[in-house]
Amino acid sequence: MRKPIIAANWKLNKGPSDTEDFIRGFESKLASLPKGVDIVIAPPFVSLVKATELLSQSRVRVSAQNMSEQDNGAYTGEVSAFMLKEVFVQYVILGHSERRSIYGETDAVINAKILKAHEVELKPIFCIGETLQEREGGKLEEVLRTQITDGLKDVSEKQMLDTVIAYEPVWAIGTGVVATPKQAQDTHEFVRSVITDLYGVSVSEKVRIQYGGSVKPDNAAELLGQKDIDGALVGGAALEVASFADLIKNGVVE
Ligand code: 13P
Repeated sequence: MRKPIIAANWKLNKGPSDTEDFIRGFESKLASLPKGVDIVIAPPFVSLVKATELLSQSRVRVSAQNMSEQDNGAYTGEVSAFMLKEVFVQYVILGHSERRSIYGETDAVINAKILKAHEVELKPIFCIGETLQEREGGKLEEVLRTQITDGLKDVSEKQMLDTVIAYEPVWAIGTGVVATPKQAQDTHEFVRSVITDLYGVSVSEKVRIQYGGSVKPDNAAELLGQKDIDGALVGGAALEVASFADLIKNGVVE
């Protein structure tokens, strides 16, 4: 059985003081939430230290939303994997569609970042997903296969087991349009089959694949109830304590 993993991607929201408010509120609800789920929050860079300090004794883990593939040097505005490790961050979201489409990140860049994260034992949450045009044009499988194969180039079997995949159809992100449970399950099954092609079934059976894109408290149960959906990467509904807590409660049946 794969342990579900639910992560809050706060995107460009919550400085240190809002981060503290959220964490204090969320920690007070934690005892009432299911135990058999990994919970991760991903604040912006400036709030990471606050988050790891406040959560040092908690089961809630902290993720960055991005990082550089470089170690140090003349890369203005960048943050390295080593720096994230130094402040006790454990996960890093890589290849989010907003990074791909707004900041031009290619599969090759994302691959370099994934390899760098593993080098320092940060766990990547590796995002993939197709646009509506690609899905409607019959390119879904081709697009995902390329993103997966190129993004995971040179990633070892052992590293793969420490990689979380987040399937986020671009058309479902922030739109309120959610993939139907069947659409999501079918695509997750395909993603897992690509991992099987690359790593074999004993690895692919263990890799956790999150769904992301308009996950809310009222659709979490149906989505996370699907066989190949092992959690969620949540944007909007993870900004408020109550809705993130409800989403976890509804999504994880123990
Ligand atoms: P929403 O949950 O707001 O659709 O965002 C999804 C997402 O992009 C998480 O990474």
